[in-house]
Amino acid sequence: MITNQNDTARTVTTELPDRAAVSLTINGEVRQLEIRPWTVLLDLLREDLDLTGTKKGCDHGQCGACTVLVNGKRVNSCLTLAIMKDGSSITTIEGLAADGSLHSLQAAFIEHDAFQCGYCTPGQIMSALALIEEGRARTRDEIREYMSGNICRCGAYPNIVEAIQQVLAEGRGVHREAAE
Ligand code: FES
Ligand code: FES
Repeated sequence: MITNQNDTARTVTTELPDRAAVSLTINGEVRQLEIRPWTVLLDLLREDLDLTGTKKGCDHGQCGACTVLVNGKRVNSCLTLAIMKDGSSITTIEGLAADGSLHSLQAAFIEHDAFQCGYCTPGQIMSALALIEEGRARTRDEIREYMSGNICRCGAYPNIVEAIQQVLAEGRGVHREAAE
């Protein structure tokens, strides 16, 4: 670029507010929050709200450990700016069991021994919940395909698929099982 001697350098700066107000309904509870605009949903849940059931694995959208539901749709919370979900309804693994009863998916994961270390399990269950609501998967291969964004380094995949298939077959996606 050619400039003449009369040109003066201009520096444009944009001031980001340090805090911004957001309203989120988290597991059925309306929360009015003041957050840093660059806070991702995963960190908001874990660090600010102490909802540590949602896990941080890769922090890059590759493993699915951080899966939560936003307005019923599964998202990787590590890639989601919380401020962009202002007004949304968030469901985490802590929001599934109620009144001493496990969600049917939680019960099925226990019944089918669908975890070893358990680190991926909250993300697997939240993703499976959305999968059932999406209504696209019926066969084992379809379940594997639509759950492929959730990595299990313990290799519990066959048992995870069995647990999901059982809930699908019994039409129990939205019901809860009594805790033992
Ligand atoms: S921690 Fe979000 S996808 Fe791995
Ligand atoms: S149970 Fe260990 S990562 Fe899935």
